[in-house]
Amino acid sequence: MAEKATAVPERAAGPLADVRKPVTVATLLDMKRKGLKIAMITAYDHPTARLAEEAGVDVVLVGDSVAMTKLGYENTLPVTMDEMLHHVKAVKRGLSRSLLVADMPYMSYELDVKDAARNAARFLKEGGAHAVKLEGGLEAAPAVREIVKVNVPVMGHIGLTPQALHRLGGYKVQGRRPEDAERILAEALALESAGACAVVLECVPAELAAEITKRLRVPAIGIGAGPGCDGQVLVSDDLLGWTEGPPLKFVKRYAGLRAQAVKAVADYCREVRDGAFPGPEHSFTTPA
Ligand code: KIV
Repeated sequence: MAEKATAVPERAAGPLADVRKPVTVATLLDMKRKGLKIAMITAYDHPTARLAEEAGVDVVLVGDSVAMTKLGYENTLPVTMDEMLHHVKAVKRGLSRSLLVADMPYMSYELDVKDAARNAARFLKEGGAHAVKLEGGLEAAPAVREIVKVNVPVMGHIGLTPQALHRLGGYKVQGRRPEDAERILAEALALESAGACAVVLECVPAELAAEITKRLRVPAIGIGAGPGCDGQVLVSDDLLGWTEGPPLKFVKRYAGLRAQAVKAVADYCREVRDGAFPGPEHSFTTPA
């Protein structure tokens, strides 16, 4: 059965793909061909999925960043398939137009390509996702090939790959040296050849990202990769200002929700303590 289309989001200005139709992998390819930029954000729960859709987001990613943004882990490594599925299902219930991509957690795809395909398919079969994303370059290509064989569209993710945090020695810009730039370009092309439907480029120099974008037939989605990509992805907590502390260089904060929320809760505490809340307008009475 076809998924239902939503109303045209009025707030999403700029050239858009047909906002009345559900976004598919084919839509993304079409957007690349037409030079329409792809807007992608992460979501981890139902309300954020609803607001992403209302705002006109094309692709919603349930990122393994949920480990840090929502689950209190230090990095993305501990999050499990079951935890990811829990969040994918919640997001799915909030979407009708945006393409839903589920991030494959660390150790769900690296060791065995059959396991990779089985885990990827769980996101479609149990979670209702439309595609998965996984990290890695040449070493990830066999898993991509196997996952595509069971009809699961796959997004690659190269450059800074947070699941390789300890091997990379931290969250650092990748591809600044010519040999590293060559390798990242080769990885992008290998993922495309393996059947990836898009490639996320994280924290690479803007010139390299623009060159990779030109060389790929599938869309390149940047995060910390400059303006030359076919689209952009940001962690929703970062763009909404839910994240504690100063934002990373590549993040633009479009709101300051955390500061507003802290103020709101502090106001509530004060009013409870001084008796200003609840007032008569928040109280029930017995009929005379
Ligand atoms: O997990 C995540 O949020 C991601 C994006 C940063 C691309 O992988």
